[in-house]
Amino acid sequence: MDLASLCNFNKTLLEEKIKAIINKDPNLPEHYREHLSQLLFSSGKRIRPIFTVLGSYFGNADQDQVYNLAAIFELIHTASLIHDDIIDKAELRRGKPTLHTIYGTTNALILGDYLVSLCCETVSNFEFEEVYYNDFHLTDLCRSEITQQRLLFNFDITYEDYITKTKNKTALLIAASLLGGAKLAGVDEKTLKKLYIYGINLGISFQINDDILDFTQDTTHLGKPNGADLMNGNITLPVILALKDKKIKKHIRNLSKQSPIEDFNYCINYIKNSKWIKKSHRISRKYLKKAKKAIKGLKHDKKALLIEILDMLDKRTH
Ligand code: FPP
Ligand code: MG
Repeated sequence: MDLASLCNFNKTLLEEKIKAIINKDPNLPEHYREHLSQLLFSSGKRIRPIFTVLGSYFGNADQDQVYNLAAIFELIHTASLIHDDIIDKAELRRGKPTLHTIYGTTNALILGDYLVSLCCETVSNFEFEEVYYNDFHLTDLCRSEITQQRLLFNFDITYEDYITKTKNKTALLIAASLLGGAKLAGVDEKTLKKLYIYGINLGISFQINDDILDFTQDTTHLGKPNGADLMNGNITLPVILALKDKKIKKHIRNLSKQSPIEDFNYCINYIKNSKWIKKSHRISRKYLKKAKKAIKGLKHDKKALLIEILDMLDKRTH
C-alpha cells in the first residue's frame, strides 16, 4: 500500500484545487500555464499535501479548505524544485526532462517565481496566513539552499551542518504541512506540538533516505543519474560518514568541480557498496524513532496511522 491510500488521500480533489489556483489568472499566457500543468501533474508523490490531510484527521475541518491548503504546500514545493533543478543543472526530474531543459532557464525561473507569488496571494485570499506563515518560513527553505551552496565540495562539513540544512530543506515544509491541516481542524496546542516534532523528525529521516537512494538506486527508478549529489558537490550523510574511511577519504577529498567523471564514479561505487550506507540507514531510523517518541503520549485513534507511516518509511525503496 502507498502513503496516499494509507491516508485515504483524495488525489482527484487535490488536483482540482491545484487546477483552480493555476487557472485563476486570466493574464497568464497559455503556454506558461501548460508548462506549469505538465510539471504539477507529473507523478509527484504528493507527500506534503498528504500530510496536510493527515493533520486534519486529528480534529474537524472543512475538507475543501484542507485540500486548498494542501494544494498551496504542493505548489510551493514545486516552485522550490524548479529552482533546485536549475541550480543542480538537473536534466531529469521524476524520469522526465526538467522544465529548464525544455523551456530554457529564463522561462523556468519566471515560472518558479510566479508559483511562489501565486502561493503568497492564495494564502491571503483564503486567509490562511495563520496556518501557513506561523510554522513555515520560506526564508528557511532558501537558507538551506544558501548553506548547500556555501558548503559545496566542502569536505569539512559536520554532521550538525548537514542535519540543520536537512531540517530547513525538507523537514520544515513537511512538518508545516502536517500542522497546517491540524490547525485548520482546530486541534489543541499540546497535540499540535507533538505533531510538529513528529513531522520534523520524520522529515529529516525522509531526506536522509533520499540521500541514500541517490547512491543506491538505479537511474531508472531514481529518475535522474546515480550519485548526482556528489557530482554536484552536495556532501550528504553517506559521504560525511565515508570521510572517516581510510580507504576512500583521500579520493573523496580530492574531488572538485573539475574532477573527471571516473574519479566521481570510483567514490560513488565505493560508497554505494560500503557499510556507510547501512550506517546512514541506522541514523535515518534514529529519526523515525524520535518521531515515534514524540507522539508517545498522544491519545487519538489516528495515532496508529502515524505509526504505520513511520513503518512504511522505514521500508521505503524509492
Ligand atoms: C531538493 O533537494 C531541493 C529542495 C527540497 C529545496 C530547494 C530550495 C530552494 C531552491 C530554495 C528556493 C525555494 C523557493 C520556493 C523559491 P535535492 O537537490 O537534494 O533533491 P532532488 O534530488 O529531488 O533534486
Ligand atoms: Mg536537486
